[in-house]
Order: sequence, then C-alpha cells, then structure tokens
Amino acid sequence: LEGSTLPSKKLIGAGVAAFLLVAPGTEADEPKPSPPDPAAVERATPSYLRYCASCHGLNGDGKGPSAFFIDPKPRDFTRGVFKWRSTPTGSLPVDQDLFRTIRTGVYATTMPPWIGLSDAEIRDLVAYVEHFSPSFTNTARGKPTEIPTETADTGESRGNGKQLYESMGCGACHGPEGHGDGASNHWPGLADDWGERVPPSDLTGEHLKSGNQSVDLYRILVTGLDGSAMPSYATSLTPAQTWDLVHYVQSLRKKD
Ligand code: HEC
Ligand code: HEC
Repeated sequence: LEGSTLPSKKLIGAGVAAFLLVAPGTEADEPKPSPPDPAAVERATPSYLRYCASCHGLNGDGKGPSAFFIDPKPRDFTRGVFKWRSTPTGSLPVDQDLFRTIRTGVYATTMPPWIGLSDAEIRDLVAYVEHFSPSFTNTARGKPTEIPTETADTGESRGNGKQLYESMGCGACHGPEGHGDGASNHWPGLADDWGERVPPSDLTGEHLKSGNQSVDLYRILVTGLDGSAMPSYATSLTPAQTWDLVHYVQSLRKKD
C-alpha cells in the first residue's frame, strides 16, 4: 500500500517544483537582488575589525569608538543609503561604487584611501559593508547611469552653465560664487538623513570629495548624494545642460 502513495507524492512534488521554476521565469526582466556572498563576508571579517570598525562600528552603525571625534561622521551602513553611486537616487549602489570609494577614500574627510589593500581584499570588504543592511538581500541594485560623451568645454558652455547654476538654485546652498555659503547654510543649516549637519560643499576648492574629473561631477549631478541635501538633477537637466553646469563648476575650482 505504501508503494501506491509514493508516486502520487512524487507527482505533487514535481508539480510544485515545476511551478517554482516557471513562476520567476515570467518576470525574466525584473532585476533580482544580488546579496553579498557569505564566504566573502567571512573572509573580510578580520580586515573589517582591524581597519574599519573603529570608525564604522562593529555593527556597521557608524558609531565606532572614534566616531565621536569625527566630522563628518563615518557612514552608518545599516540603512543601505550611500552617497557615491553610479545608480539612480534612492537605489542601492553596485559593488563597483563601494569598491571605488574604499580604494580612493573621501578627500578631506577621515575616510582614508585604502591603497595598501589588494583588490580581492577590497571586494570582500564590499560584501562585508553590504551585509550590514537587509536592503541588499531584499532589493535589486540600481542600474548604473551611462555618462554620455562630454561636450566641448567652451566659453558658451560655461556661460550656459552659469545661467543654469542660477536658475536651478544651486546658489541657495552652494552660494552665488560656489563658496558653500548659500542661504541654506545659515543657522541651523542642512542636515543629513542621520541628523548630522552636512554643509554644502565649497565648490571652489582644489579637490572635490570624490574625484576631480568632469565625469565625477557629472555623476554627482545625475545621481545626487543620497542621505545628504544634495539632490539628483536626472530628470530636470538634459545631458547637454548637465555638461554645461559641469564646465561652469570646473571653472570655479582652483585647478590642481
Ligand atoms: C578614521 C575613520 C574611518 C575609517 C578607519 C574608515 N572609514 Fe569609511 N568613512 C569614514 C567617514 C568619515 C565617511 C563619510 C564621509 C562623508 O560622508 O563625507 C566614510 C564613508 C565610507 C563609505 C561610504 C561611501 C558612500 O558612498 O556613502 C564606505 C563604503 C566606507 N566608508 C567604507 C570603509 C571601509 C570598508 C573601511 C575599512 C577598510 C573604512 N571605511 C574605514 C571614516 C572612516
Ligand atoms: C538643497 C541644497 C543643495 C542644492 C540645491 C545643491 N546642492 Fe550640491 N551639495 C549640497 C550638499 C549638502 C553637498 C555636500 C554633501 C556632502 O558633503 O556629503 C553638495 C555637494 C555637491 C557637489 C560635490 C562636491 C564634492 O566635494 O564632492 C557638487 C559638485 C555639487 N554639490 C554641485 C551642485 C550643483 C551644480 C547644484 C545645482 C544644480 C547643486 N549642487 C545644488 C547641497 C545642495
């Protein structure tokens, strides 16, 4: 009698398996979450504790023992909110974005460039950073923005950029001449998502926080710096206008 129940169980099992295989296939185009590899997380544990936890905290909440003395504050990784992404505002970064920040550091902050670590070590640390936030397990990454070929950096382009700087209200935060002294910076100033004061950047400095190339500026204007007051202009500027603004902002900067 047992023999007769077995095949039907198998059939039910096969039916369920077939359903599971077919169901996701119907949404083949839906991007899927790509959670960090547990093996990489395990490999990175000693280096995270050694190099990162003093600032970013054992639990990745940005409250390591040194954090109290640091301004701007080390990132809290638990919310899955990152400033330097190639992906649209409000979306998760791709691994390469975090890799780049860890490798190059954040200029004029305490986040150092990790030049002594190998690519493999940094890739593992990327997984470790991601494992602090459930977002990476539950949500698909954003799609990296494609940066179109730069237009010519002419006087006309800079002139258009200056007009856009005024009409888009950049000066309200960054100041009329880009010194970071706009009206929004007056007391109580601008706060980030964690309630810390993050003033608008002085755009005339020799170095920007995350790269001085025109493509770095272009990326910031398109993606915004999530968690801070710096918005995304992806839907309000055309690519040509974005390049005009980049050329104008580059003309404000002291050149390296
Ligand atoms: C001395 C303190 C300090 C140490 C050590 C440190 N960081 Fe940071 N880190 C910071 C600060 C401060 C920021 C935020 C900079 C800002 O927002 O302007 C930051 C930001 C980041 C970001 C955020 C990037 C983004 O897009 O928002 C990542 C990722 C990061 N750190 C990874 C690491 C890793 C991995 C290590 C260890 C290899 C490490 N950090 C070690 C201070 C530190
Ligand atoms: C509501 C205020 C606000 C407005 C409007 C604004 N920004 Fe920002 N911007 C910020 C803040 C705050 C930061 C600094 C974020 C940080 O340090 O993490 C920033 C950062 C930047 C950076 C990066 C600087 C660096 O060191 O990496 C650039 C470039 C920039 N803004 C350009 C612009 C331009 C161009 C406009 C207008 C199209 C603009 N911003 C509009 C608040 C603003």
